[in-house]
Amino acid sequence: MTDPVVKPIRPRAAVILAAGQGTRMKSPTPKVLHKLAGRTLLDHAIDAAEGLGCERIIVVVGAHSPQVGEAARKRLGPDATVIQDPPLGTGHAVLAAKDALADFEGDVVVTYADCPLTTAGVIAPLFDQITGGAHVAVLGFEAHNPTGYGRLILAPGHVLLRIVEEKEADLATKQVKHCNSGVLAADRAILFDLLANVRNDNAKGEYYLTDVVGLAHDRKLVTRAAFAPEASVQGVNSQAELAAAEAVWQKARRDALMVEGVTMPAPDTVHLSWDTKIAGGAVVEQFVVFGPGVGVESGAVIKAFSHLEGAHVGECALIGPYARLRPGAEIGPEAHIGNFVEVKKVKIGKGAKANHLSYLGDGSVGEKANIGAGTIFCNYDGFEKFETHVGKGAFIGSNSALVAPVRVGDGAMTGSGSVITKDVEDGALALARPEQTIKAGWATKFRALKQAKKDAKTK
Ligand code: UD1
Ligand code: MG
Repeated sequence: MTDPVVKPIRPRAAVILAAGQGTRMKSPTPKVLHKLAGRTLLDHAIDAAEGLGCERIIVVVGAHSPQVGEAARKRLGPDATVIQDPPLGTGHAVLAAKDALADFEGDVVVTYADCPLTTAGVIAPLFDQITGGAHVAVLGFEAHNPTGYGRLILAPGHVLLRIVEEKEADLATKQVKHCNSGVLAADRAILFDLLANVRNDNAKGEYYLTDVVGLAHDRKLVTRAAFAPEASVQGVNSQAELAAAEAVWQKARRDALMVEGVTMPAPDTVHLSWDTKIAGGAVVEQFVVFGPGVGVESGAVIKAFSHLEGAHVGECALIGPYARLRPGAEIGPEAHIGNFVEVKKVKIGKGAKANHLSYLGDGSVGEKANIGAGTIFCNYDGFEKFETHVGKGAFIGSNSALVAPVRVGDGAMTGSGSVITKDVEDGALALARPEQTIKAGWATKFRALKQAKKDAKTK
């Protein structure tokens, strides 16, 4: 879930830095295309920029990972990316966006694409400083262990004198716990004017974005810090850090859902997606996984060990335990989808039941219909998919195979074990299985014969 979009007083643009290599992820997938809560880190950063009301968003990408640029352009449009090649520091990265923002009048916020917990709400206090008259504002945090971060050199009243990078810091500066998150905002013209004066005569030989603060202060511009909780500005540099950020996100979202009235007896075992919607009054039992695109209405119960994605669960429906709802599963109110039932692209009517061991793929099930155990919608012939429609109040006998395309009418029945290949009219019974034959006494005789043979051998 993202914060609601604000309407800023002055126009806003964002420059999202994503040109780092991300080598510590040790993955062929670029770092910022890894997912948190089912959404890429890049998309989380774009969500934050959009949530702040940024009307222009520029993503700075490296030449080494074209997929990042593709992903950004796919979402934001063809002009949304600039390439920084080679990467010569954060200041140099922001300068890469200079031409793209040349005609923009307003404030620019610089963020990192690898900080998925830095939402619009987390960044908002930075703009309070800008609105309050700051020319340059930096989002800081108090670090538990400040090693590695740029230190904020502050004067009373959140006045920011300069930022000193770890590699440039003397012993006294290293004691400073106020650190730079990396998020900075300034008027566009002022920012690029200051950046033009940033030099790389430092320990890393890089153009530090953070140097604009000292330059602005020297020019008697107003420079201020705002603060955010440390956990909300953590970057992701390794798989372990990605998992840690995921855990923080999951807990926060579960807590928010519980505040809204969702019952979760074991919240730590429930995994949500960025867009999971669960109404207050719903129950989510242990070990339930929500992939993207799920909505659950009030009164519904999602029982333990169920997996849902791209599905909608109506009011007071019962799902699971061990149910699998795949994209396009639309479960009507009061319907039951039981253990080991898989539903894909099927609309299940109000009060319908499929309680055991079934595959329902492509089609519909009418209100109050009952799908017997082991029913399969045979939807695929190896080349194409076809639909199965089961009418209102129909009764599908256990272990029926409904070979699509096929329709079972309202109130119709199919006998257990039937392979239904032709439409069944309303109210009819369809039987498609061999007639049963009875051979009286056959089993008794058979056993006696076999036993006699066995006894003869062992003598
Ligand atoms: C930076 C800040 C530091 C801050 C820390 C917070 C500077 C000089 N330092 O340090 O004050 O405490 O982040 O995590 O700004 N990037 C580019 N192009 C580049 C270099 C970096 O796009 O040429 C991107 C990276 O992909 C990353 C971000 O900028 O998303 C930060 O880069 P990183 O190298 O991690 O900076 P730090 O040294 O950690
Ligand atoms: Mg870093």
